[in-house]
Amino acid sequence: MTDVWILGGTGRSARAITAELQNRGIRPVLVGRDAARLAAAANGLPTLVARSVGETADAIRRDRPAVVVNTIGPFTTTAAPLLDACLPSSDYLDLANDLAAVSATLRRGDDFAAAGRTAVTGAGFGVTATESVVVKLCQGRPVPRRVRVDMVPSMAVEAGVVGDALAGTIVEGLPGVEGGGRFQGRRYRNGRLVAGKLAGEPIRLVLPDGSAVVTASMPLGELMAAQRASGAADVVSASSEAPSSPVARAILPAATALLTIGAVRALARRRLAKVRFKAAPPPRDHSWGHAVVDWADGTTREGWLRVGEAQAWTGTVPAEVVRRLLDGEGKPGAHTPAALFGPALAESCGGEYLIVGDDVAARPRS
Ligand SMILES: NC(=O)c1ccc[n+]([C@@H]2O[C@H](COP(=O)([O-])OP(=O)(O)OC[C@H]3O[C@@H](n4cnc5c(N)ncnc54)[C@H](OP(=O)(O)O)[C@@H]3O)[C@@H](O)[C@H]2O)c1
Repeated sequence: MTDVWILGGTGRSARAITAELQNRGIRPVLVGRDAARLAAAANGLPTLVARSVGETADAIRRDRPAVVVNTIGPFTTTAAPLLDACLPSSDYLDLANDLAAVSATLRRGDDFAAAGRTAVTGAGFGVTATESVVVKLCQGRPVPRRVRVDMVPSMAVEAGVVGDALAGTIVEGLPGVEGGGRFQGRRYRNGRLVAGKLAGEPIRLVLPDGSAVVTASMPLGELMAAQRASGAADVVSASSEAPSSPVARAILPAATALLTIGAVRALARRRLAKVRFKAAPPPRDHSWGHAVVDWADGTTREGWLRVGEAQAWTGTVPAEVVRRLLDGEGKPGAHTPAALFGPALAESCGGEYLIVGDDVAARPRS
C-alpha cells in the first residue's frame, strides 16, 4: 500500500499537513470520528470514519496503510495503541513534543527495527527546530560536554478553546519519565535524566532579528532529542513559552503539588480544556530554534534555525518526512526527525541556519 492516513483529520495540524502533502503530489486519506465534519474538511480527499483510537488501530491492522500520521493528542495516551497497530506493516509519525510521549515512542525503536519499519516522533516545530541546530553544530566534531537548546515559536492563534488534547498534555505532567517526579522538570546531568526546576535557568536571549525573549527550562521532547543528537552528558531544554516571570516561577511549585492529587488533576484538565482564547497574529516574523554547544576543550558553538510561523512549519515537516518515507529513505527504528534525516531536512522545509561566527555576530546572553 502507498496510502498515507492522517488521524485527527479534521484538526488544525491535519489541515496544515494535508495541504503540504498535496503540494508534494500526495493525496492522504483523512481519518476521523465524525463523517460530516470529515467530509467538510476533506475537500474531495478520501476519508475514513473511525470513532475512537481503538477503532482506528483496528482499521490500520486491516488496511495496512504505508504511513500513519498521528495528530491525536495527548500522545501519551494515543501513541502506544497506534504504534502497536502499525507493526509490522506501516511507518508511523506523530507531533508529540512532551518528554513522556517522545521517550516512550523512542523506546519502541527495537520493535520497529525488527519489523523493518520507521517511527518518527517529535515531527513538529519544537523538537525538529532545536535538534536540527544541535545536529548541525555537532557535525564532524567530538561529543560535546554541554548543550542548551531554546525554542522560540511565533504562532498565530485561532479563536477557540484549549481542547482536551493540549489540556491533557499540560495537566498530566510526565508520567513514566525516569529521573524525577511526574510534576518536576528534567535535565540531563552526567548522562542521566535527573529532576530539574520547571521554568528554571531563565536567560534573556537576543534573537538574530534584534528582539529579545526570556526562555526558561521545560522538560519537553527537545531535551531527549538534543541529548541523543549530541551525546552530551549535560543538557537543558528551554522555551520562550515557559512561565518565566518571577511571580509565575514562585507559584509553580505549589500549583504542581496540587496536581499530584488525581481529582484536582481531572478538574483542572476539564476546566483548562474549556478555556477560550481570542484570535491573535504571530508575535514576530519568525520562529527560532537555538542551541549552544560546549566542548571539553573550551570551544563553544552557537546556532539558530529561522523558520516562519511555527504551526505552518508543523505542517511542512511531517509532510516532508512522509514524502521521504514513501520514497524509501527511512531507516528502520524509532527516531526524531533531524536524527533521521540530518540538518538538511529543516532546510528542505524552508528553514535557514545562522551559525554564530559564520553567519551572524555573537549576541549577548544574560
Ligand atoms: N509538536 C508541535 O509543535 C505541535 C504543534 C501543533 C500541535 N501539536 C499537538 O498535536 C495535537 C493536535 O493538535 P491540533 O492543533 O491539530 O488539535 P485539534 O485542531 O484540536 O485537532 C485534534 C484532532 O484530533 C481528533 N481527536 C481528538 N481526540 C480524539 C480521540 N479520542 N479519538 C479520535 N480522534 C480524536 C479531533 O477529532 P474531532 O474533530 O472528532 O474532535 C481532531 O480532528 C495536539 O496534541 C497538539 O498539542 C504539536
